Amino acid sequence: MSEAKRRVGFGVVGVGAMGRVHAENLALKIPRANLVAIADMLVEPAKKLASSLGVETVYSDFGSLIDDKNVEAILIAVPPYLKKDMIVQAAKAGKHVFVEKPMTLSSKDADEIIYETDRAGVKIQVGYQRRFDNAFRRVEDAINEGRIGRVLLMSSHTRDPPGLSPNYYLDFAKSGGIMADTCSHDFDVIRWLSKSEVTKVYADGEILVYHKELDPSGIPDHVVVTLTLEGGAMAHVDSSAYAVYGYDVQAEILGTKGAAFVGIGEKNSATILDESGHHGQYSSSYVERFGQAYHDEVEDFATCILENRPPRVSARDGKAAIEIGFAADESMKRKAPVIMTH
Ligand SMILES: NC(=O)c1ccc[n+]([C@@H]2O[C@H](COP(=O)([O-])OP(=O)(O)OC[C@H]3O[C@@H](n4cnc5c(N)ncnc54)[C@H](O)[C@@H]3O)[C@@H](O)[C@H]2O)c1
Repeated sequence: MSEAKRRVGFGVVGVGAMGRVHAENLALKIPRANLVAIADMLVEPAKKLASSLGVETVYSDFGSLIDDKNVEAILIAVPPYLKKDMIVQAAKAGKHVFVEKPMTLSSKDADEIIYETDRAGVKIQVGYQRRFDNAFRRVEDAINEGRIGRVLLMSSHTRDPPGLSPNYYLDFAKSGGIMADTCSHDFDVIRWLSKSEVTKVYADGEILVYHKELDPSGIPDHVVVTLTLEGGAMAHVDSSAYAVYGYDVQAEILGTKGAAFVGIGEKNSATILDESGHHGQYSSSYVERFGQAYHDEVEDFATCILENRPPRVSARDGKAAIEIGFAADESMKRKAPVIMTH
């Protein structure tokens, strides 16, 4: 079959909150992909999802997904501490990999991922979907058209609605905590839009709300991170796990010629004014805010495979984002800035 008509056979491992969004897109909304199998250790919910999507093959273990000859690419959406071994296994079996962020939880594991995927010649993309969001892409275009000028200041904010992520999140060794899990999105945005590496990180964090859940782990629910970029521009990232109005992501870039903003997470542009004030409608979840981007990032990955071009978010990008997170964790611990060398 010609590459123009061919569909890439995907297998998804991990169909929890995020994997299920990708599985639905692959099965129903991405013409260049075909979802051929699902693997999850919780096999009953996986079977239910598979049958609703018309997918016949469900495995309870990753090994069977790897052995499936119809699976050409694997989308990995399991907890972060499990990803490295799965990526390496997939690469050794010659399968392309789309991995949800964070790619892994140490620099050594990231290097192994880069080495093995390079050696196998398979494509790997990391799920930093903000790079595919229409609002962020407009900002990227403005930067590339020279309308912002030399970058002076940037900021990126992530606000999650009340209610903590799944249980594994509470174990730092499994999730990487707020810096790797949440703020690595913001670190990726700063690197991507500034086209610069981070040279200095100064971070602080507090548990302000979820004492019962987070005190044992020491993972803060509120953080502020100050970053210095190559060439001297400055950036800051902050994150809250308790935004009562919904899920919200914002970013700002100020340059010598102008500025660009990705605004407060409204899901539509209508604003109602009444006697109690000024009301917009905000996204209630990341799925709602980034639905378009989750679709487009995986569609683009399938196209990269078919057209043999490099994905837009590489394993090296995946490593760089988590390394800023590790520096931020170290800075919080030491109560001092951490210098990053490149
Ligand atoms: N890009 C984003 O905006 C975004 C949003 C949410 C989550 N994520 C990321 O997606 C990943 C998954 O997060 P989640 O919230 O969906 O977690 P989750 O706990 O809801 O789902 C994880 C799934 O993996 C399955 N699983 C665990 N171990 C397994 C194994 N050994 N073999 C097969 N299946 C296994 C679990 O049964 C579960 O169904 C995380 O890395 C998270 O950071 C990304």
